[in-house]
Amino acid sequence: MQNLQSYLEGAGAGDELIGVFGSLTESVRKISLAVRTADTGKIGTTNSYGEEQVAMDVFSNTILIEELKKNSQVGLVASEELPDEEKIGGGEYALAFDPLDGSSLVDVNFSVGTIIGIYKKKTFIGVKGDDQVAALIAVYGPRTTIFLTVKKGVAQFMLNLKGEFILMKDKIQVGEGSDASSGASKYFAPGNLRACASNLAYLDLVNYWIKEQYTLRYSGGMVPDINHILLKGKGVFAYPGYKDEPNGKLRLLFECAPMSLIMEQAGGAASDGKIRILEKKLENLEQRTPIFIGSKGEVQRCSNALK
Ligand code: AHG
Ligand code: MN
Ligand code: MN
Repeated sequence: MQNLQSYLEGAGAGDELIGVFGSLTESVRKISLAVRTADTGKIGTTNSYGEEQVAMDVFSNTILIEELKKNSQVGLVASEELPDEEKIGGGEYALAFDPLDGSSLVDVNFSVGTIIGIYKKKTFIGVKGDDQVAALIAVYGPRTTIFLTVKKGVAQFMLNLKGEFILMKDKIQVGEGSDASSGASKYFAPGNLRACASNLAYLDLVNYWIKEQYTLRYSGGMVPDINHILLKGKGVFAYPGYKDEPNGKLRLLFECAPMSLIMEQAGGAASDGKIRILEKKLENLEQRTPIFIGSKGEVQRCSNALK
């Protein structure tokens, strides 16, 4: 059984980046415990995007920042739960995160996650997803698992009872699902179906998926939905814009860029319908983007349909 440290060494990550992953996995371990046991209540505050915060959004954010402050390699952080980027130390690593994605699903006991992009930058303004040196997503379901990339492919680890992350699957591949081993089903995760009321091209695309008998796999949490694609090795997750919100809801820096790096590193694709998500330059921290992510052919189908 390979652990995280030996995987990272084998992938050529230096001591400093391995140290950053140490702080992140320690945070994931603590958030995982909090998700299982802490109060799920709303706390009556909103984040800078006007979204209602639950206690665990704030708690998860605090856990990450406190852990990262202990790490001398870290300089800058930006979080969905903070109004601005913040210098927390003198190190060269800069981390951008959604501490608890899908937090409104915790009380109903659905899976949720943490999403983290890792850069070496002095500010996030002007960065592209391609600038990430690594990314990590954690899934808090019946098991706590993480996917990570140091741009040498994607591996999945599981948190065991001893608090260690053990390699479950290396060289994760997302293809088109046409080979016999991947089974007959095609999967679709259609976010923001409300958009169909004004975005008729999206309605047509959804109808295509239904008529072609794709299997629906949608949980309401982007992390478990993309986790499904990564492990089944095929599928597509969509979150388009519509009349009132042309860029949809999901944030480029905190959600879409890390997810897209992991998906591309697994051989899949991620696009806003026009260009690769990873090529989009960050103009402001709260920037949103439509996203179509998963098997290359499926992402291309979305781009063609929504042109
Ligand atoms: P968050 O909980 O961080 O605000 O974001 C949840 C996201 C994502 O996980 C999911 O795919 C999407 O919101 C669902 O959005 P709808 O509210 O449109 O269902
Ligand atoms: Mn989120
Ligand atoms: Mn969140």
